Amino acid sequence: MNTGQVVETFTEFYRERGHRPITGSTLLPPPTDPVLFTTSGMHPLTPYLLGRPHPQGRRLVNVQRCLRTTDLDEVGDPTHLTVFEMLGSWSLGDYGHSQSLRWGHELLRDGFGIPQERLYVTVFGGDDQVGPDTQSLRTWQELGLPVEQTGDENWWSNGPVGPCGPDSEIFIWTGGSDTPPQGTPTTDPRWVEIWNHVHMRYHRHEDGTLEPLRQPGIDTGMGLERLLTVLQGCGSVYETDLFEPWTRLLPRLWDLDERSMRLLHDHLRSSIVVIGDGVRPSNTGRGYVLRRLIRRLLTTLRRDDPSHTLIDLPVELVEHTLNHFHQPYGPGTVRDVLLHEERRFTELLERGQRVLCRPEFNGPLSEEDFRYLHDTHGLPRDLVAGLRTTG
Ligand code: ALA
Repeated sequence: MNTGQVVETFTEFYRERGHRPITGSTLLPPPTDPVLFTTSGMHPLTPYLLGRPHPQGRRLVNVQRCLRTTDLDEVGDPTHLTVFEMLGSWSLGDYGHSQSLRWGHELLRDGFGIPQERLYVTVFGGDDQVGPDTQSLRTWQELGLPVEQTGDENWWSNGPVGPCGPDSEIFIWTGGSDTPPQGTPTTDPRWVEIWNHVHMRYHRHEDGTLEPLRQPGIDTGMGLERLLTVLQGCGSVYETDLFEPWTRLLPRLWDLDERSMRLLHDHLRSSIVVIGDGVRPSNTGRGYVLRRLIRRLLTTLRRDDPSHTLIDLPVELVEHTLNHFHQPYGPGTVRDVLLHEERRFTELLERGQRVLCRPEFNGPLSEEDFRYLHDTHGLPRDLVAGLRTTG
Protein backbone atom coordinates (compact mmCIF):
# COMPACT_ATOMS: atom_id res chain seq x y z
CA MET A 1 0.00 0.00 0.00
CA ASN A 2 1.30 3.45 -0.82
CA THR A 3 0.81 6.49 1.42
CA GLY A 4 -2.46 7.55 -0.22
CA GLN A 5 -3.95 4.06 0.11
CA VAL A 6 -2.94 3.79 3.77
CA VAL A 7 -4.54 7.13 4.64
CA GLU A 8 -7.66 6.19 2.66
CA THR A 9 -7.96 2.77 4.37
CA PHE A 10 -7.68 4.38 7.80
CA THR A 11 -10.15 7.17 7.10
CA GLU A 12 -12.64 4.88 5.37
CA PHE A 13 -12.58 2.37 8.22
CA TYR A 14 -13.62 5.06 10.69
CA ARG A 15 -16.01 6.74 8.29
CA GLU A 16 -17.89 3.44 7.96
CA ARG A 17 -18.16 3.46 11.74
CA GLY A 18 -19.79 6.88 11.90
CA HIS A 19 -16.73 9.18 12.15
CA ARG A 20 -16.66 12.51 10.29
CA PRO A 21 -13.37 13.35 8.58
CA ILE A 22 -12.09 16.75 9.71
CA THR A 23 -9.32 18.76 8.07
CA GLY A 24 -6.03 18.73 9.93
CA SER A 25 -4.77 22.07 11.30
CA THR A 26 -1.43 23.73 10.57
CA LEU A 27 1.52 23.21 12.90
CA LEU A 28 0.62 26.44 14.69
CA PRO A 29 -1.75 26.14 17.64
CA PRO A 30 -4.10 29.05 18.48
CA PRO A 31 -2.37 32.08 20.09
CA THR A 32 -3.77 31.31 23.55
CA ASP A 33 -2.07 27.91 23.57
CA PRO A 34 1.09 27.71 25.70
CA VAL A 35 3.00 25.38 23.35
CA LEU A 36 4.84 26.47 20.21
CA PHE A 37 3.77 23.72 17.82
CA THR A 38 1.05 21.12 17.47
CA THR A 39 2.63 17.99 18.91
CA SER A 40 -0.22 15.54 18.58
CA GLY A 41 -3.47 15.01 16.69
CA MET A 42 -5.59 15.77 19.76
CA HIS A 43 -3.98 19.12 20.31
CA PRO A 44 -6.39 21.24 18.22
CA LEU A 45 -9.27 19.26 19.77
CA THR A 46 -8.41 20.01 23.41
CA PRO A 47 -11.53 22.14 24.17
CA TYR A 48 -13.76 19.40 22.73
CA LEU A 49 -12.09 16.68 24.76
CA LEU A 50 -12.84 18.83 27.81
CA GLY A 51 -16.55 18.88 26.95
CA ARG A 52 -17.32 21.62 24.39
CA PRO A 53 -19.61 20.19 21.65
CA HIS A 54 -17.78 19.78 18.32
CA PRO A 55 -19.68 21.11 15.26
CA GLN A 56 -18.97 17.89 13.34
CA GLY A 57 -20.31 15.57 16.01
CA ARG A 58 -18.95 13.08 18.52
CA ARG A 59 -16.95 10.77 16.25
CA LEU A 60 -14.07 12.27 14.30
CA VAL A 61 -11.17 11.09 12.17
CA ASN A 62 -8.26 12.95 10.56
CA VAL A 63 -4.60 13.22 9.61
CA GLN A 64 -2.69 15.88 11.55
CA ARG A 65 0.83 17.12 10.97
CA CYS A 66 2.83 17.40 14.17
CA LEU A 67 6.25 18.64 15.22
CA ARG A 68 8.24 17.32 18.15
CA THR A 69 11.62 18.66 19.16
CA THR A 70 11.88 16.33 22.17
CA ASP A 71 13.12 13.56 19.87
CA LEU A 72 15.68 15.73 18.03
CA ASP A 73 18.68 13.71 19.16
CA GLU A 74 17.07 10.53 17.93
CA VAL A 75 16.49 11.85 14.44
CA GLY A 76 18.64 9.77 12.10
CA ASP A 77 17.56 6.48 13.66
CA PRO A 78 15.02 4.35 11.72
CA THR A 79 11.84 5.69 13.35
CA HIS A 80 12.04 9.28 14.65
CA LEU A 81 11.10 12.35 12.62
CA THR A 82 10.78 16.00 13.62
CA VAL A 83 7.69 16.67 11.51
CA PHE A 84 5.46 13.65 11.14
CA GLU A 85 1.82 12.87 10.50
CA MET A 86 -0.60 11.30 12.89
CA LEU A 87 -3.65 9.31 11.88
CA GLY A 88 -6.23 10.02 14.59
CA SER A 89 -9.69 8.94 15.68
CA TRP A 90 -11.83 10.41 18.45
CA SER A 91 -14.88 9.67 20.50
CA LEU A 92 -16.08 12.82 22.23
CA GLY A 93 -18.16 11.37 25.04
CA ASP A 94 -19.49 8.69 22.71
CA TYR A 95 -18.15 5.07 22.65
CA GLY A 96 -15.70 3.74 25.23
CA HIS A 97 -12.11 2.53 25.34
CA SER A 98 -12.89 -1.15 24.81
CA GLN A 99 -14.61 -0.37 21.53
CA SER A 100 -11.66 1.73 20.43
CA LEU A 101 -9.21 -1.10 21.13
CA ARG A 102 -11.38 -3.63 19.30
CA TRP A 103 -11.61 -1.43 16.22
CA GLY A 104 -7.89 -0.76 16.38
CA HIS A 105 -7.18 -4.47 16.40
CA GLU A 106 -9.62 -5.11 13.57
CA LEU A 107 -8.14 -2.40 11.36
CA LEU A 108 -4.55 -3.52 11.86
CA ARG A 109 -5.36 -7.19 11.27
CA ASP A 110 -8.06 -7.09 8.57
CA GLY A 111 -7.55 -3.65 7.03
CA PHE A 112 -3.76 -3.59 6.96
CA GLY A 113 -3.12 -7.36 7.10
CA ILE A 114 -0.71 -7.31 10.05
CA PRO A 115 -0.46 -10.81 11.54
CA GLN A 116 -1.66 -11.16 15.13
CA GLU A 117 1.69 -12.74 16.17
CA ARG A 118 3.50 -9.50 15.36
CA LEU A 119 1.47 -7.46 17.84
CA TYR A 120 2.04 -6.74 21.52
CA VAL A 121 0.19 -4.22 23.67
CA THR A 122 0.85 -2.30 26.86
CA VAL A 123 -1.67 -1.02 29.39
CA PHE A 124 -1.58 1.24 32.43
CA GLY A 125 -0.75 -0.73 35.56
CA GLY A 126 -1.84 1.97 38.03
CA ASP A 127 -0.06 4.49 40.25
CA ASP A 128 -0.71 6.23 43.56
CA GLN A 129 -3.53 8.33 42.07
CA VAL A 130 -5.29 6.05 39.57
CA GLY A 131 -5.89 2.30 39.67
CA PRO A 132 -4.82 -0.18 36.95
CA ASP A 133 -6.65 -0.18 33.63
CA THR A 134 -8.28 -3.58 34.08
CA GLN A 135 -10.89 -2.96 31.39
CA SER A 136 -8.25 -2.61 28.65
CA LEU A 137 -6.34 -5.55 30.05
CA ARG A 138 -9.44 -7.73 29.79
CA THR A 139 -10.28 -6.50 26.29
CA TRP A 140 -6.83 -7.34 24.96
CA GLN A 141 -6.88 -10.72 26.66
CA GLU A 142 -10.22 -11.48 25.02
CA LEU A 143 -8.68 -10.54 21.68
CA GLY A 144 -5.82 -12.93 22.39
CA LEU A 145 -2.96 -10.39 22.41
CA PRO A 146 0.04 -10.46 24.75
CA VAL A 147 -0.15 -7.60 27.26
CA GLU A 148 2.48 -5.85 29.33
CA GLN A 149 1.50 -3.54 32.18
CA THR A 150 3.58 -0.41 32.83
CA GLY A 151 3.39 2.76 34.96
CA ASP A 152 3.68 6.30 33.64
CA GLU A 153 4.67 5.08 30.15
CA ASN A 154 0.98 4.33 29.75
CA TRP A 155 -0.32 7.67 30.94
CA TRP A 156 -0.93 10.34 28.36
CA SER A 157 -1.16 14.10 28.73
CA ASN A 158 -0.35 16.90 26.37
CA GLY A 159 1.20 19.09 29.03
CA PRO A 160 1.18 19.73 32.75
CA VAL A 161 -2.50 20.71 32.71
CA GLY A 162 -5.46 19.66 30.54
CA PRO A 163 -7.17 16.44 29.51
CA CYS A 164 -5.26 13.24 30.27
CA GLY A 165 -5.69 9.61 31.14
CA PRO A 166 -4.41 6.05 30.92
CA ASP A 167 -3.50 4.79 27.49
CA SER A 168 -2.88 1.54 25.74
CA GLU A 169 -0.14 1.31 23.15
CA ILE A 170 0.06 -1.16 20.28
CA PHE A 171 3.52 -2.35 19.25
CA ILE A 172 4.63 -4.15 16.11
CA TRP A 173 7.50 -6.59 15.85
CA THR A 174 10.10 -5.18 13.48
CA GLY A 175 12.75 -7.85 13.98
CA GLY A 176 12.10 -9.39 10.56
CA SER A 177 9.49 -11.87 9.37
CA ASP A 178 11.84 -14.86 9.79
CA THR A 179 12.80 -13.95 13.37
CA PRO A 180 10.09 -14.92 15.84
CA PRO A 181 9.13 -12.08 18.18
CA GLN A 182 11.10 -11.98 21.42
CA GLY A 183 10.85 -10.12 24.72
CA THR A 184 8.28 -7.42 25.41
CA PRO A 185 7.88 -3.77 24.35
CA THR A 186 9.88 -2.59 27.37
CA THR A 187 12.66 -5.17 27.01
CA ASP A 188 13.26 -5.39 23.25
CA PRO A 189 13.51 -2.24 21.05
CA ARG A 190 12.48 -4.24 18.00
CA TRP A 191 8.93 -3.81 19.30
CA VAL A 192 8.04 -0.42 17.83
CA GLU A 193 5.10 1.59 19.11
CA ILE A 194 2.67 2.27 16.33
CA TRP A 195 -0.66 3.34 17.81
CA ASN A 196 -1.74 4.88 21.04
CA HIS A 197 -5.32 4.70 22.35
CA VAL A 198 -5.87 7.17 25.17
CA HIS A 199 -8.81 7.00 27.52
CA MET A 200 -9.24 10.73 28.28
CA ARG A 201 -10.88 10.43 31.67
CA TYR A 202 -9.41 13.30 33.65
CA HIS A 203 -8.68 16.99 33.63
CA ARG A 204 -5.42 17.80 35.40
CA HIS A 205 -5.44 21.19 37.12
CA GLU A 206 -2.58 23.58 37.95
CA ASP A 207 -2.22 22.16 41.47
CA GLY A 208 -1.75 18.63 40.06
CA THR A 209 -5.15 17.30 41.10
CA LEU A 210 -7.14 15.11 38.74
CA GLU A 211 -10.80 15.84 38.19
CA PRO A 212 -12.80 13.11 36.42
CA LEU A 213 -14.27 14.39 33.14
CA ARG A 214 -18.04 14.42 32.93
CA GLN A 215 -17.77 13.03 29.41
CA PRO A 216 -14.72 10.78 29.11
CA GLY A 217 -13.44 10.57 25.54
CA ILE A 218 -11.11 8.53 23.35
CA ASP A 219 -8.11 9.95 21.53
CA THR A 220 -6.06 7.70 19.30
CA GLY A 221 -2.94 8.53 17.32
CA MET A 222 -0.94 6.36 14.93
CA GLY A 223 2.30 7.52 13.33
CA LEU A 224 1.72 7.42 9.58
CA GLU A 225 5.40 7.05 8.66
CA ARG A 226 5.96 4.18 11.08
CA LEU A 227 2.89 2.38 9.78
CA LEU A 228 4.17 2.83 6.22
CA THR A 229 7.56 1.44 7.26
CA VAL A 230 5.92 -1.74 8.51
CA LEU A 231 3.44 -2.15 5.67
CA GLN A 232 6.03 -1.49 2.95
CA GLY A 233 8.55 -3.80 4.63
CA CYS A 234 11.18 -1.04 4.94
CA GLY A 235 14.11 -0.80 7.32
CA SER A 236 13.36 2.84 8.19
CA VAL A 237 10.84 5.62 7.63
CA TYR A 238 13.19 7.08 5.01
CA GLU A 239 12.77 4.07 2.74
CA THR A 240 8.99 4.47 2.43
CA ASP A 241 7.35 6.00 -0.65
CA LEU A 242 6.83 9.20 1.32
CA PHE A 243 10.54 9.98 1.06
CA GLU A 244 10.94 8.71 -2.48
CA PRO A 245 12.02 11.95 -4.14
CA TRP A 246 14.38 12.71 -1.24
CA THR A 247 16.19 9.39 -1.33
CA ARG A 248 16.38 9.57 -5.13
CA LEU A 249 17.73 13.11 -5.45
CA LEU A 250 19.84 14.03 -2.43
CA PRO A 251 22.41 11.21 -2.36
CA ARG A 252 23.33 12.08 -5.98
CA LEU A 253 24.04 15.59 -4.89
CA TRP A 254 25.80 15.19 -1.58
CA ASP A 255 27.89 12.25 -0.39
CA LEU A 256 27.16 11.79 3.34
CA ASP A 257 27.07 8.86 5.75
CA GLU A 258 23.65 7.29 6.28
CA ARG A 259 22.79 8.95 9.59
CA SER A 260 23.78 12.41 8.34
CA MET A 261 21.79 11.91 5.16
CA ARG A 262 18.73 10.94 7.18
CA LEU A 263 19.13 13.98 9.40
CA LEU A 264 19.35 16.14 6.31
CA HIS A 265 16.18 14.60 4.85
CA ASP A 266 14.33 15.09 8.11
CA HIS A 267 15.49 18.62 8.93
CA LEU A 268 15.13 19.95 5.40
CA ARG A 269 11.68 18.51 4.97
CA SER A 270 10.63 19.73 8.44
CA SER A 271 12.00 23.22 7.76
CA ILE A 272 10.05 23.40 4.50
CA VAL A 273 6.82 22.43 6.31
CA VAL A 274 7.41 24.96 9.09
CA ILE A 275 8.15 27.73 6.59
CA GLY A 276 5.12 26.60 4.57
CA ASP A 277 2.99 27.18 7.69
CA GLY A 278 4.19 30.79 7.81
CA VAL A 279 7.10 30.68 10.30
CA ARG A 280 10.30 32.64 9.57
CA PRO A 281 13.70 32.17 11.27
CA SER A 282 14.21 34.37 14.33
CA ASN A 283 15.82 34.34 17.76
CA THR A 284 12.69 33.52 19.73
CA GLY A 285 9.82 31.06 19.83
CA ARG A 286 8.88 29.14 16.72
CA GLY A 287 11.30 31.09 14.59
CA TYR A 288 14.13 29.93 16.83
CA VAL A 289 13.12 26.30 16.47
CA LEU A 290 13.23 26.78 12.71
CA ARG A 291 16.60 28.56 12.93
CA ARG A 292 18.03 25.67 14.97
CA LEU A 293 16.76 23.10 12.48
CA ILE A 294 18.34 24.98 9.58
CA ARG A 295 21.64 25.46 11.42
CA ARG A 296 21.80 21.82 12.41
CA LEU A 297 21.22 20.72 8.85
CA LEU A 298 23.78 23.18 7.48
CA THR A 299 26.38 22.02 10.01
CA THR A 300 25.79 18.42 8.96
CA LEU A 301 25.78 19.28 5.27
CA ARG A 302 29.11 21.12 5.41
CA ARG A 303 30.94 18.94 7.90
CA ASP A 304 33.00 17.08 5.30
CA ASP A 305 32.81 19.59 2.49
CA PRO A 306 32.28 23.30 3.28
CA SER A 307 31.38 24.02 -0.34
CA HIS A 308 28.05 22.18 0.00
CA THR A 309 25.19 24.68 -0.23
CA LEU A 310 21.40 24.80 -0.26
CA ILE A 311 21.58 26.64 -3.59
CA ASP A 312 21.73 23.12 -5.05
CA LEU A 313 18.60 21.91 -3.26
CA PRO A 314 16.29 20.59 -6.01
CA VAL A 315 13.11 22.63 -6.23
CA GLU A 316 11.21 19.37 -6.84
CA LEU A 317 11.75 18.48 -3.17
CA VAL A 318 10.33 21.77 -1.97
CA GLU A 319 7.35 21.39 -4.30
CA HIS A 320 6.75 17.78 -3.31
CA THR A 321 6.67 18.70 0.39
CA LEU A 322 4.44 21.75 -0.01
CA ASN A 323 2.02 19.75 -2.15
CA HIS A 324 1.93 16.85 0.24
CA PHE A 325 0.99 19.13 3.13
CA HIS A 326 -1.36 21.31 1.00
CA GLN A 327 0.53 24.48 1.88
CA PRO A 328 -0.13 27.82 0.21
CA TYR A 329 3.42 29.16 -0.36
CA GLY A 330 5.21 28.77 -3.67
CA PRO A 331 8.51 26.86 -3.69
CA GLY A 332 10.38 30.07 -4.61
CA THR A 333 9.38 31.78 -1.35
CA VAL A 334 10.41 28.80 0.75
CA ARG A 335 13.70 28.45 -1.08
CA ASP A 336 14.43 32.18 -0.56
CA VAL A 337 13.89 31.83 3.20
CA LEU A 338 16.30 28.88 3.32
CA LEU A 339 18.97 30.63 1.26
CA HIS A 340 18.69 33.84 3.25
CA GLU A 341 19.18 31.92 6.47
CA GLU A 342 22.12 30.04 4.98
CA ARG A 343 23.83 33.34 4.08
CA ARG A 344 23.22 34.70 7.57
CA PHE A 345 24.67 31.57 9.16
CA THR A 346 27.73 31.69 6.92
CA GLU A 347 28.40 35.31 7.90
CA LEU A 348 27.99 34.46 11.55
CA LEU A 349 30.45 31.58 11.27
CA GLU A 350 33.02 33.75 9.52
CA ARG A 351 32.68 36.41 12.18
CA GLY A 352 32.97 33.76 14.90
CA GLN A 353 36.11 32.31 13.38
CA ARG A 354 37.74 35.74 13.22
CA VAL A 355 36.89 36.61 16.81
CA LEU A 356 37.87 33.22 18.24
CA CYS A 357 41.34 33.49 16.62
CA ARG A 358 42.20 36.25 19.06
CA PRO A 359 44.78 35.24 21.68
CA GLU A 360 42.45 35.98 24.63
CA PHE A 361 40.23 33.09 23.49
CA ASN A 362 43.01 30.51 23.23
CA GLY A 363 42.32 28.70 26.50
CA PRO A 364 39.07 27.37 27.92
CA LEU A 365 36.23 29.90 27.70
CA SER A 366 34.65 31.29 30.85
CA GLU A 367 30.99 32.17 31.36
CA GLU A 368 32.01 35.80 30.95
CA ASP A 369 33.65 35.00 27.57
CA PHE A 370 30.48 33.31 26.36
CA ARG A 371 28.43 36.29 27.48
CA TYR A 372 30.76 38.73 25.74
CA LEU A 373 30.76 36.69 22.51
CA HIS A 374 27.00 36.57 22.57
CA ASP A 375 26.24 40.13 23.59
CA THR A 376 28.92 41.92 21.58
CA HIS A 377 29.34 39.69 18.53
CA GLY A 378 25.96 37.94 18.34
CA LEU A 379 27.58 34.50 18.62
CA PRO A 380 25.34 31.97 20.34
CA ARG A 381 26.96 29.60 22.80
CA ASP A 382 26.29 26.40 20.83
CA LEU A 383 27.81 27.96 17.72
CA VAL A 384 30.94 29.01 19.61
CA ALA A 385 31.23 25.53 21.10
CA GLY A 386 30.86 24.05 17.60
CA LEU A 387 33.55 26.32 16.15
CA ARG A 388 35.94 25.38 18.93
CA THR A 389 35.49 21.62 18.40
CA THR A 390 35.88 21.87 14.64
CA GLY A 391 39.04 23.91 15.14
N1 ALA B 1 -2.51 11.84 21.82
C1 ALA B 1 -1.97 10.53 21.78
C2 ALA B 1 -0.53 10.53 21.30
O1 ALA B 1 -0.10 11.50 20.74
C3 ALA B 1 -2.80 9.62 20.96
O2 ALA B 1 0.15 9.56 21.47
